Amino acid sequence: MALRRPFILPQQVLRGASSGIRPVARSFLGYYRDQTRGLATVVPPVTQDATGSKGPTAMVFLNMGGPSTTDEVQDFLSRLFADGDLIPLGRLQSYIGPLIAKRRTPKIQKQYADIGGGSPIRKWSEYQCEEMCKVLDKVSPETAPHKPYVAFRYAAPLTEDMYTRLLEDGFGNGKGGRAVAFTQYPQYSCSTTGSSLNELWKWRNRLEGKRANGSLDAPGTVQWSVIDRWPTHPGLVDAFAKNIEDQLKTYPEEKRSGVVLLFSAHSLPMSVVNRGDPYPAEVAATVHAVMQKLNFSNPYRLCWQSQVGPSAWLGAQTSDTVQEYVKRGQTDIVLVPIAFTSDHIETLYELDLEVMEEANSPGVKRAESLNGNPIFIEALADIAKQHLQKGDKCSLQMTLRCQGCKSERCLEQKKFFAGEQASSLVV
Ligand code: FES
Repeated sequence: MALRRPFILPQQVLRGASSGIRPVARSFLGYYRDQTRGLATVVPPVTQDATGSKGPTAMVFLNMGGPSTTDEVQDFLSRLFADGDLIPLGRLQSYIGPLIAKRRTPKIQKQYADIGGGSPIRKWSEYQCEEMCKVLDKVSPETAPHKPYVAFRYAAPLTEDMYTRLLEDGFGNGKGGRAVAFTQYPQYSCSTTGSSLNELWKWRNRLEGKRANGSLDAPGTVQWSVIDRWPTHPGLVDAFAKNIEDQLKTYPEEKRSGVVLLFSAHSLPMSVVNRGDPYPAEVAATVHAVMQKLNFSNPYRLCWQSQVGPSAWLGAQTSDTVQEYVKRGQTDIVLVPIAFTSDHIETLYELDLEVMEEANSPGVKRAESLNGNPIFIEALADIAKQHLQKGDKCSLQMTLRCQGCKSERCLEQKKFFAGEQASSLVV
């Protein structure tokens, strides 16, 4: 599948590149342009039946998504604030959520306008999935062809749209076929990957029929498995490390080892952290693995961004951290988005236009996002290949619910994706 139109990097990033602030962004644009010229993934029509070969295999990228245009912002925010897995607002969620969404829409529309009119996450997700499938066709011919799909939680293409396409393409409906839900959040959180899986499970039941308690799937339904986390995959670590090294090279050699690496991940409400969510520990694992790869070449900290509302969220906050260090005279800082696999509003607006501009110091820079990085694409293919070969339904870690989880939906969703053999492990 070819990209419908070439992705245009936001003007602010281009301006930064042309003024010498972000040279990596400019060179990457060249790479991306080259890549988009030959994007066609030729995938034969789906012909599988229950007795056929192991392919084709549907590779479904799960992510939160973002509005591609400013007109989509209100719908995006409405879905986001309606999601109790992401932003728990209690029993009044369905009442308060839309009100917050409506109130925040003009401000967020302006932010998307400032980064070029929309989020690039769809373009990058489709590109990454297509490129990964091309690699997979070569390294895992026994499960080929691999067909790319993207399912976003809060923006098009929504989970239900993806599932409808899957059925139209010949999966399910008596033909079975294998589909892999591949989370694009490297570190697992019940508010991100968990929410996407809850949504996938919901639409699976609506479109293919609910599995009665303890009974087998109806014959010929889509056979799902899940890649639920990959925080320390060596290819992911290499891709992050390479982007950091590239940015460090822009500092004079004598100053380089004194540059602070500030890893930044999306924060979580403390109510989610205290429920036992695995995300903070997994993000920390990624940071440690990247620093190990860099031989602990620089001082570093992990901090958290993008909190909303008055309740307590996991800190320290990225913006406060940068301001504090700059105030103390530590003006050479590389921000590293460590929990996102592509640029979106949290990098292009929050880090580049808010945090970096507020810092007002040319030594505060940002490492490039993973986006179309070929090391990253290879890593995705390797993760998928290992999963396909192993044949597990999901990781053992996914079978364990958070200590504080009271959600029947989490329980049933996990039992479904764990499959018959491992569903007894879900507690
Ligand atoms: Fe973590 Fe339900 S909230 S498993």
